[in-house]
Amino acid sequence: MTMPSGKLIVFEGLDGAGKSVQIERLASTLVKRGLDIHVTAEPSSGSLGQEIRRRLRQTSPCDEATLALLFAADRMDHVNAEITPALDSRKIVLCDRYVMSSLAYQSAMLPMEWVRSINQYAVPPDLTIMLEISVEEAIARRQNRAQPIELLEHQLRQEMVFVHYQSLLANHDGPLARIDSSGSFDQVEKNIQQAVFHHFPELQSE
Ligand code: TMP
Repeated sequence: MTMPSGKLIVFEGLDGAGKSVQIERLASTLVKRGLDIHVTAEPSSGSLGQEIRRRLRQTSPCDEATLALLFAADRMDHVNAEITPALDSRKIVLCDRYVMSSLAYQSAMLPMEWVRSINQYAVPPDLTIMLEISVEEAIARRQNRAQPIELLEHQLRQEMVFVHYQSLLANHDGPLARIDSSGSFDQVEKNIQQAVFHHFPELQSE
């Protein structure tokens, strides 16, 4: 059996859209098919990603431009240290958030074109899976979690992020699957699988 080429599949959506659960489920489906999977996330687990998470827990982490640069720097480090080597070893990389998150979140306060330019060297995803959910539902789901609500998760901010995601989706070029994430986890899982196999039929025959 020849392993398919490496693929970067990125998950995007509001905080509370269900990305982590669905990434876990897709990873387990693909592993059962004998595929080599690498699951990762941004902010990354590297030193820059840890610094971002530390700052996000503070009430005023730093100015918006510094935060945008930190996200972009963490991304380049993540691409070079983790994503590209995994793709080179023909792995399927499932990444929780990527450039589109910076465009949606950081552009709430900064010019979109500047945010795009500091992210220009990030390798483009082979597929972006957008988990779509309303701001109200995303917030309700997060309130059921035991984690503290981070700075960027405040409602007003989420509403701005939602609007940005909508405009990014309308103008997106590159492979994209928009999935309604308001249904049951099982239904959403099924729809994601269908989208993945539609975009990469070679994975189904493994
Ligand atoms: P997480 O909750 O998905 O782990 O992400 C932490 C927060 O960081 C979340 O509110 C989204 C935000 N974020 C950005 O603002 N820009 C980015 O580029 C990324 C990757 C995440």
